[in-house]
Amino acid sequence: MVIAIDGPAGAGKSTIARSLARRLGFTYIDTGAMYRAVALWALRADIDVEDPLRLEQLARQAEIEFAAGESTVRLNGEDVTAAIREPRVTQAASKVAAMPGVRRAMRVEQRRIGAEQSVVMEGRDIGTVVFPDARVKIFLDADPQVRAGRRAAETGGVVDEVARELAERDTRDRTRAEAPLTQASDAEYIDTTGLTPEQVEEAILKIVRERTSNGKGTH
Ligand code: DC
Repeated sequence: MVIAIDGPAGAGKSTIARSLARRLGFTYIDTGAMYRAVALWALRADIDVEDPLRLEQLARQAEIEFAAGESTVRLNGEDVTAAIREPRVTQAASKVAAMPGVRRAMRVEQRRIGAEQSVVMEGRDIGTVVFPDARVKIFLDADPQVRAGRRAAETGGVVDEVARELAERDTRDRTRAEAPLTQASDAEYIDTTGLTPEQVEEAILKIVRERTSNGKGTH
């Protein structure tokens, strides 16, 4: 079973997806971390993050692993959990993620992971492109200023700067030609602006129960 959670940065996807996965005994997959890992490798290897062919090659060769039950991300055997959160990687990831070849390579991997186990998978295109038949699809959103505030609290950044950077990234993610960030027509929209993580989790659990009970599955 796949629970697809999409939405813009700072909407609460990671917090919610991680705790939901723990609660349900599913594997948590952060697909943004995969794009970040490819971007990190490109930066380190001094490859132009706007070079589609080299990047596709890199994306195909990248061995990205998630340690089960943890939030650890490995790239070619190295723990890159902290490195992929650096601001320069964040910016590069958004460019790398716009490339069709890179997305193709990541999609193959994401589908393989989802076919092997029950997952809560979060990203931008999980319900629309990666698993269009997912039984449960959630689109999380929040007020842009609140999203920036959450990101700033996480990274220790200045809210106004983070807000600017977030808006730039959102625009790129929403307007790219390949798998842009958009809500699937059969996804449930949840605005997390005034909600606690517990309230969001409860709302999603209710949707999971509704969509998986007899006759109600949308598949
Ligand atoms: O969720 P995040 O900030 O870690 O994602 C990093 C970048 O990757 C972000 O710019 C959006 C992009 N991304 C994507 O295009 N598709 C996904 N499924 C997940 C992330």
